[in-house]
Amino acid sequence: MSLLEVSSLTKRFGGLLALDDVSLTVEENEIRGLIGPNGAGKSTLFKNIAGFHKPTKGAIAFQGQSIVGQKPHTIAEMGIVRTFQETTLFQELTVFDNALVGTHMTAKTDVFSAILGLDKAVQRRARKKVMEVLDFMGLADRKDQLASELPLGSQRALALSVALVSGPKLMLMDEPFAGMNAEETNHMMDLTRKVRETGVTIVLVEHDMKAVMGLCSYLTVLNFGQVLAEGTPDEVRNNENVIEAYLSGAK
Ligand SMILES: Nc1ncnc2c1ncn2[C@@H]1O[C@H](COP(=O)(O)OP(=O)(O)O)[C@@H](O)[C@H]1O
Ligand SMILES: [Mg+2]
Repeated sequence: MSLLEVSSLTKRFGGLLALDDVSLTVEENEIRGLIGPNGAGKSTLFKNIAGFHKPTKGAIAFQGQSIVGQKPHTIAEMGIVRTFQETTLFQELTVFDNALVGTHMTAKTDVFSAILGLDKAVQRRARKKVMEVLDFMGLADRKDQLASELPLGSQRALALSVALVSGPKLMLMDEPFAGMNAEETNHMMDLTRKVRETGVTIVLVEHDMKAVMGLCSYLTVLNFGQVLAEGTPDEVRNNENVIEAYLSGAK
């Protein structure tokens, strides 16, 4: 059994087929790359998996169990978290409090109780988990800084921490390398590998080919809502359909 099985998934927005009969399987503990030109349907696929959109047709199974029609928080509790293309940190909260917000999914408490410190036993566990994760991500020294004070690389590491404190099994990462310089990219690549070493499976949507080729052993290419190719980075790089899709997109 694969960790994630997407079968014939279709998502229609009015007249637009954002996902058109997409099937893919992700094995436990891999870092899968999901690439393709802008508008290919990558973020839409993530939103359907995470329960933010309901597919028009098709099936999604996580650990052998159908998750289509489940609410986002239920899917999050099952172990799927999404890190967003857009920055979703609370800029006026500290690093620590931002990470604490991420615990509300598994601590069975809400964001406000998390920040206000209600429910002492739950909070003690949550705070311990937050410190473990910040330590692991190299952010412990910055825990009292405001998110807005962090450089981009640390902001993204914090976004990853917010996802990690919920103890996910599968992380859907949407363009975590966007806008990063070479040094920040290398650091984020190291962090991504470290996360995977803890047993988390990752699907990575990313345009930065250095990061994709360096992190992923297997890639799925989407184009106009369809799976255009799958294979190792070398196979995909040399696939004529892929080359053409990227070149025509660049015109
Ligand atoms: N909520 C929505 N309503 C209508 N169209 C949408 C919506 N979300 C995405 N789309 C369209 O679906 C297509 C795929 O978008 P998206 O999944 O964001 O692509 P990618 O992440 O690969 O760049 C695009 O044409 C986009 O405009
Ligand atoms: Mg996108």
